[in-house]
Amino acid sequence: MLRLHVAVASLFLESLAYSKEEFTDWECERTESKFFMWPSLRELAVTEASQMLRPLRSSPLLSSTSAEFGQMSSLWQAIFNECPLGTIFLAAMELGNCLADHSRRIEPCEDVGSFMMDTMFGRGIPIAVLLTASWPLNHALHMPFLYAHTPEDKISKWYSIQNDPALNCEGDGIWPKIQKQLDSGIGDGLPLLEHLRSLIFSPEVQNLEAHQLSFPGDFVPGCAFGWLAVLLVKAGISWHTETFSYFSYEFLLKPYLAELKFWEFLGSGRICMYHRTNNEMGFLGRELLQDAGSLGSLTTLRLEGSPILDGQLIFRATAAAVLGEGVRAYVVKGETRLLTYAVYVWGKDFTKWLPAYITRFHSLGVHNLMVFGDEGAYEACSTVSGSVCLHLPTKNSLHRYTIPLALMNLGVDAFVIDFDIYPFRDPTPILISELESYDDAPELLLSGSYGDACICNALALYRSTTQLREFTRGLLDWLYENPFPHGVTQKALSAFLGEKPVQKVHSKEPWVVKAEMLALTLPPRPSIAWSLLDPGVQFPTSAKLETSGWAGDPEDIVIYHFFHGSWLEAESALAVNDTGRDELDLFYNTTCDGEPQTCEERRQQRILEHLMANRKGDVRPFTDRSCYTLPVNEIDAHYLDSENLGKGFLDKRRSAL
Ligand SMILES: *[C@@H]1O[C@H](CO)[C@@H](O)[C@H](O)[C@H]1NC(C)=O
Ligand SMILES: *[C@@H]1O[C@H](CO)[C@@H](O)[C@H](O)[C@H]1NC(C)=O
Repeated sequence: MLRLHVAVASLFLESLAYSKEEFTDWECERTESKFFMWPSLRELAVTEASQMLRPLRSSPLLSSTSAEFGQMSSLWQAIFNECPLGTIFLAAMELGNCLADHSRRIEPCEDVGSFMMDTMFGRGIPIAVLLTASWPLNHALHMPFLYAHTPEDKISKWYSIQNDPALNCEGDGIWPKIQKQLDSGIGDGLPLLEHLRSLIFSPEVQNLEAHQLSFPGDFVPGCAFGWLAVLLVKAGISWHTETFSYFSYEFLLKPYLAELKFWEFLGSGRICMYHRTNNEMGFLGRELLQDAGSLGSLTTLRLEGSPILDGQLIFRATAAAVLGEGVRAYVVKGETRLLTYAVYVWGKDFTKWLPAYITRFHSLGVHNLMVFGDEGAYEACSTVSGSVCLHLPTKNSLHRYTIPLALMNLGVDAFVIDFDIYPFRDPTPILISELESYDDAPELLLSGSYGDACICNALALYRSTTQLREFTRGLLDWLYENPFPHGVTQKALSAFLGEKPVQKVHSKEPWVVKAEMLALTLPPRPSIAWSLLDPGVQFPTSAKLETSGWAGDPEDIVIYHFFHGSWLEAESALAVNDTGRDELDLFYNTTCDGEPQTCEERRQQRILEHLMANRKGDVRPFTDRSCYTLPVNEIDAHYLDSENLGKGFLDKRRSAL
């Protein structure tokens, strides 16, 4: 795959006040409007999109916008400011109406068409947001009536676009084949990739990419739409696997897309769609992006005038847990602070083990464990006496950061742990001695990888400091604005952290950490003091990946991350050895067909066997190995601010013919 090699300026700012109070309301759920009930419009759009595809003369919704576009342009601007994706959707529908009204003549519809193109590609909306929006933009744009032509259509502009020699790929190297695959893939709804893969990863296409990067101003793709389609498909593939390549493709695509006229864009008929990412967070933006500002003493939150009182139920419940059994005081370097352990879990496969999980923590003396989860998790949690259960129904990988943020905003240090772990010892004394083994106690401690120098965020201690709150807000906001699959949450943290963990006062060997590659540029973020929890033996991971495992004495293990298959597959692009998917049963099933005592002995025995099977030696060997990335063609380029990229490519192509 293609990779732009860019020197990314590290913009570590000492202190950076987070200016946002809300996340961008892409779904327009909270948008107050003079014009539309955006949430109901979206609901209707989602359920009725296929009907709406037909020209909608009769829709009461659109009748208000069916007047001549020119007279309404300030209205369109206003609604775009209110709800960008909803407006793009409406513009696409309006364009469809206009074309239908004018027998598919293009000229009367140019204004609304260019408005639509400008709002999609000229206003800095991330392409991933466009393609993962729950607004059914792809339906709105995929208007078959636009390019379903009869032979009489030969005089129409649509026909001429599709037969434009600048765009027509006949007799042009690899393109006819690619076009055929795209057409049949799209037409028959077959998985595109199977057929296309060998073509779009062929040396011919790779060379074109290299050429484009070397000469971005002059590059004129032979088959312009074929080229765009290939870049879109490649962006789609790398969106799943390699964000850095994704951004390279997006970077190449955007200027081309911005140059297209709407009829070229629609006439090409090639729109891709990513999987939807559910980014509903459950908390309000301000509950995550702002301090609750009400930490009184260790035991009293001052609630008068606090935003907590009119917050979301989940936030109020979290605040109540902070006031109640959810936290314990602990002392680090003479300072008394509040600590909680937090886990989030949903789905039957996991929640059936939840009572045993909580009970295990309790048996180690850890009662300050907050369990966030869906209805089932809440019920299972509530069966254990003394448990602290919080109903957080949104199922969302962003909770990796929403939960520590909500807790930090309430003034609490949070040790956030995945569900696929087993605690062997009370972690608190170990965490304290870890924190105290540094000159200044780090703000963030997280687990690492055994066989390479990479972080692992299955276990992370967040201490509530101004910088770490700001840092985590920036990270969460970035992930929200750049919707990617689950596994990217760790990659993003790694890239945001960089490669300079703080070092212990007395250590035989320094921590070496390599950063993962996330994007061409990263937003500014405060510098924080972070370091690792011992990935060798105290906080290790089972040997399911080539680079995971542990070393040493089982007695020294504090929390063991056994990496459950279904979490793992979502997390990793690597090959997974998932013989033995029943670790949850192995660690947490305290019943068997015999006596309790026999069952417990059997469990202990099986755990030990498992540990020994995953043990890789006596001591973790030094490693400075980089984090895994998919194989890429390394191409040097420094065209991030190139303004000529793609300019006038269609005209250049035509004049070359
Ligand atoms: C997978 O892991 C099991 C133990 O969990 C081990 O016995 C087996 O050899 C491993 N397979 C591979 C291919 O590494
Ligand atoms: C634990 O193991 C027993 C015996 O193998 C089995 O009957 C039971 O269903 C298991 N528990 C769970 C929660 O799966």
